[in-house]
Amino acid sequence: MDILKLIRKRRTIRKYKNKRIPKKILNKIIESAKWAPSPHNCQPWEFIIIKNTLIKKSFISLLYRGLNSFLTPVKIILNRSIRIIENAETIILVYNNNNFSKKINKLGEPYFSSSIISEIEGISAAIENMHLAAHSYGIGMAWLTMPLLLKKNINKFINTKNELMAVLTFGYPAEKGKCLRRKHLSEIIKYIKYIWKNVM
Ligand SMILES: Cc1cc2nc3c(=O)[nH]c(=O)nc-3n(C[C@H](O)[C@H](O)[C@H](O)COP(=O)(O)O)c2cc1C
Repeated sequence: MDILKLIRKRRTIRKYKNKRIPKKILNKIIESAKWAPSPHNCQPWEFIIIKNTLIKKSFISLLYRGLNSFLTPVKIILNRSIRIIENAETIILVYNNNNFSKKINKLGEPYFSSSIISEIEGISAAIENMHLAAHSYGIGMAWLTMPLLLKKNINKFINTKNELMAVLTFGYPAEKGKCLRRKHLSEIIKYIKYIWKNVM
């Protein structure tokens, strides 16, 4: 398929069928993440997969318990994300191991801040690869960051000190997903046509 067509047709899918995703397909989706670019090829990503029904149940009840500490408007939005996770066949927690920025830390600023951003950009590229790969295999995915509000609880559950970057939910689509308007090219492009005098 033409790459632009694939990119344009991908949607966030928040409702899933009760149908198992074969491990072979799941592995291919994760394989796509592995080939994403990352700063100095540091590959800062780690993926924790939750597929087991009992573990999923226990994870979901942890998230619902965590809701109580938030004010109502946040509670409502966060509750929506938890419902998406609850409905998913597979949940993948994406972690940043920060190994690259930990090394760069010795060099101080501005290198450290830049390494932190670079790691995040690499991980974002990996997640987008997964989004596109999932779509190409007929699997729906949602990329969620609202649940990061519960990262302390989630990290305790996983027993990790790594930085939670996103919660990804997967399943065979039970909805088409809404195609939201994208800005016109003219709204996002700016060609530089002259050089500011004060920088010369
Ligand atoms: C970094 C990031 C965080 C997101 N977090 C959430 C989220 O917490 N809950 C949710 O329902 N959707 C979330 N989304 C999905 C966006 O709402 C969605 O991508 C956007 O509305 C465009 O729709 P589309 O993906 O179908 O084209 C997130 C997407 C990105 C890239």
